Amino acid sequence: MIIAANLKTNFTRKETASYIEEVGKYAQKSAQKVMVFPAMTSLDNYLTPLTIGSQNAYPTLNGAFTGEIGLEQLQEFEIKTILIGHSERRHILGESQAFIAQKFEYFKDQGFEIVYCVGEPKEVREAGSEATLEYIAKQYEGIDTTYDKLIIAYEPVWAIGTGLTPTLKDIETIHAELKKKSTAPLLYGGSVKITNAKDFLALDNVDGVLVGSAALYAEHFCTMIEYADELENENK
Ligand code: 13P
Repeated sequence: MIIAANLKTNFTRKETASYIEEVGKYAQKSAQKVMVFPAMTSLDNYLTPLTIGSQNAYPTLNGAFTGEIGLEQLQEFEIKTILIGHSERRHILGESQAFIAQKFEYFKDQGFEIVYCVGEPKEVREAGSEATLEYIAKQYEGIDTTYDKLIIAYEPVWAIGTGLTPTLKDIETIHAELKKKSTAPLLYGGSVKITNAKDFLALDNVDGVLVGSAALYAEHFCTMIEYADELENENK
């Protein structure tokens, strides 16, 4: 399974380095693919068994894009994994589907492993499952769902950082629908904690989790890796 930590705008370089060391030591003993997305300023050439990815980048080699980083800045640290379409970039930073698709195409052409995020806001969820699936379908526009280095993360916007989560049944239903769109590994994200991670990981069509706040505690994040190992040993 895939156990991924999105550190968002948290940790200094020093804190990130010790986090990566601690999680790396644990992950070494695990069969899971463990990914960490640090803040931009904490990207580095880490000697680690973890996959280190970028939370974002501009679709360019370099150039005049104030405040952004491009391919050149990722290549310096041999970063070959990127998160695209995260809800905070869609809803707080205002990225459009057209721009997200352009970014996807650029990093696909560069052979990056892409963790592509989709998910509906609260009002859409409240409008029902048909509205939810229609909304998510639009987030697949311009995205090559057959790309072999694609990982998809279903993260309902209303579940991110709120402590709220869909029911297990709802996750199973949505994931089954999303699996019809792409056979890529499908992660669940949104208020994943040590108290619910194992239940999520045990579901059909859940191939891993993408964790925000709870992942900031290395020990909690390592516990989630352990859950995945346990489930695999139990032949999930
Ligand atoms: P939380 O785990 O804090 O809800 O964040 C989820 C997320 O956005 C991961 O990308």
